[in-house]
Amino acid sequence: MTQDELKQAVAQAAADYVAQTAPAGSIIGVGTGSTANFFIDALAAIKDKYLGAVASSEATRKRLEGHGIAVFDLNEVTDIPVYVDGADEIDGGLNMIKGGGGALTREKIVAAVAGEFVCICDESKRVEVMGKFPLPVEVIPMARAHVTRELAKIGGRPELREGFVTDNGNLILDVHGLAITDPKGLEAAINQITGVVTNGLFAVRPANLLLLGTAAGVRSIR
Ligand code: 5RP
Repeated sequence: MTQDELKQAVAQAAADYVAQTAPAGSIIGVGTGSTANFFIDALAAIKDKYLGAVASSEATRKRLEGHGIAVFDLNEVTDIPVYVDGADEIDGGLNMIKGGGGALTREKIVAAVAGEFVCICDESKRVEVMGKFPLPVEVIPMARAHVTRELAKIGGRPELREGFVTDNGNLILDVHGLAITDPKGLEAAINQITGVVTNGLFAVRPANLLLLGTAAGVRSIR
């Protein structure tokens, strides 16, 4: 199976899971990226059961609307039974690195409201210790140099994502060279640096369910 076929299989499994668990008339949280895009396409087939979705990025909002799925402002919504999104890396505790697409802050906000986080990815994303994938950190532009120095002090090699501005008008520093043995501690420590909006570690709020695309089929891991 190709990587895209694995992504498509987990996206369909997530849509089936949503159809079984999310109450009719509810609003679904939708992530960002190529795997999330396959999920949006699968969600379109069951859209009539739901009121609509909350999007974690402008790209996702556009794709949802393209399928005729109503997109709600998160401030108008109190209950999101389930949030479905991809990841760049995921470990055995279902902690994740996210933000390869630069949408980490909105993803973390929607995930914070959701009852359940369902992570969908192919098996290449499953790791023992996170950190091979550079950790994205969203930064207020005027704090770029200060945050770069502070991230170097904790042992990382931050690199500015050239030519990229987030949906929130900020910058991304991709931090290389971290072996993330304490995901929760590192998530909290980086978020304490003044000028950081948030970082791409999802450990304080990890996934509740991983749907992992493998050559042998989709595995459900809790
Ligand atoms: C975007 C993300 C994505 O979930 C992550 O980058 C995975 O993307 P893909 O499904 O394309 O591999 O965090 O900010």
